[in-house]
Amino acid sequence: MRISKKVLVTFVTCALAATTSFSTLAATTLKLSHNQDRNHPVHQSMQYMADKVKEYTNDQVRIRIYPNGQLGTQRESMELLQNGALAIVKSNASELEAFEPAYGAFNIPYIFRDRDHYYRAMESDVGEKILAASHKKGFVGLTYYDAGARSFYANKEIKTPADLKGMKIRVQPSPTAVEMIKMMGGSPTPLSYGELYTALQQGVVDGAENNETALTTARHGEVAKFFSKDEHTMIPDVLVISSKVWDGLKEEERQAIKKAAKESMQFHKTLWTEMTAKSIEEAQSTMKVKFIDVEKQPFVDAVKPMHEAALQNPVIADYVRGIDALANTQ
Ligand code: GCU
Repeated sequence: MRISKKVLVTFVTCALAATTSFSTLAATTLKLSHNQDRNHPVHQSMQYMADKVKEYTNDQVRIRIYPNGQLGTQRESMELLQNGALAIVKSNASELEAFEPAYGAFNIPYIFRDRDHYYRAMESDVGEKILAASHKKGFVGLTYYDAGARSFYANKEIKTPADLKGMKIRVQPSPTAVEMIKMMGGSPTPLSYGELYTALQQGVVDGAENNETALTTARHGEVAKFFSKDEHTMIPDVLVISSKVWDGLKEEERQAIKKAAKESMQFHKTLWTEMTAKSIEEAQSTMKVKFIDVEKQPFVDAVKPMHEAALQNPVIADYVRGIDALANTQ
């Protein structure tokens, strides 16, 4: 059943209004929407955060999590947040780029040397500046969550950019993702995450790109049997809160939420490593997905102009330079 956006907005607005009217009597309840399943690591890390927020605010602030896109896609959830119907959304840097261009810095292919560089960027002043950049646009970033490296998966091996020729590759609704696939020689097809399983199954697209957990938590390994590890991007998930809700909280509540968010990012770091390994194991043994090692250099070369163009783009150049500068530091 597909609920129309209007019905959804009315429903969520009423639900929020009900919560607000009781707020003098009881705790403030903040509704959080995201598009992953309950068995996905990010759901568990956000549940960890919600428990910490409850503890640190003596139960005065509660976070109620709505998984599986039940309140809308990531994009619809951001729109609900901007018009006041939702308090918190987990999206990712790719989709947030359309709402706040600063996130585009994270989406440049091969900008990170390795996982340590990626973490240095998320934990740095640059990372914090990006989270804070969107306050006037109606939301503020609370924290990043590791979402691994993204690679191609399809029903054929993709070992060089030439293999992408003629292939429709599902991408997130993000200008950088569209550009990346074009530069590698494929045909980008933006779709929401919730539509992807069926699109792969029915051949609406020939392939997709994501981290390994998508194979198991979203069951994409049932409909795509080759995962080709070119690891073109490392795009973090991002937890954002409505600026209005944020500004309306007490200072000590804001501090409690920020502390819990940061702790959940560290909790997630360990969980992510464990769950990715489990996903790979399950995808190989149960779903018979084959993992292919890929020579990365031809992919790196194909998209190099994107990094150069970003350094010339006044909107994100400072962030990109900031991330580049963290490549070699410890
Ligand atoms: C990742 C990410 C999601 C996103 C998805 C996608 O799984 O964690 O936030 O929606 O990629 O490709 O759409």
